[in-house]
Amino acid sequence: MGIATLAVGTIALSASAATVLENRAATMKGLGANLKAIGAVAKGKAEYSPALIGNAKALVQYSKNIEVLFPQGSKGKRTKPEIWSDWAGFVKASEALEVAAPALLAAVESGDKAKIGAATGAVGKTCGGCHKPYRAPKKK
Ligand code: HEC
Repeated sequence: MGIATLAVGTIALSASAATVLENRAATMKGLGANLKAIGAVAKGKAEYSPALIGNAKALVQYSKNIEVLFPQGSKGKRTKPEIWSDWAGFVKASEALEVAAPALLAAVESGDKAKIGAATGAVGKTCGGCHKPYRAPKKK
């Protein structure tokens, strides 16, 4: 059973290693763009609009099962080896975002700026909570 699972995983990775990195980058950019749109309202740089509910829903979608974007050995430009050596911690960091994202959606749906600000900050903390231990600094 274990061997069969491993074989399937290996085939999937070798056949689509580039796709894995593309999906990962697209998801991260999707998270960033939607969080930025909502954050602009929280910072008073943009007016609240119900359209932001769409941004929050997209963020919830992107936040699901981030760890799946990091199969064993799928090294990216800024992945740290700790992702795979501390997989349980990495999954925990992913789950923190999965909890914070729906809370942000609820805050955006409420239209309450203070709540949106707090929930935006909470989501941002989960991004940093994973990037700090598991994302390597930019190469100069
Ligand atoms: C569970 C871990 C984890 C969480 C949670 C996470 N990220 Fe990331 N993110 C990473 C890692 C690791 C990389 C580097 C990936 C690579 O180099 O292949 C990355 C890369 C990125 C990138 C660069 C994408 C590119 O290749 O251009 C952006 C932007 C980004 N993250 C935004 C966010 C935002 C915004 C959030 C929160 C809403 C978030 N991330 C949450 C782990 C995470």
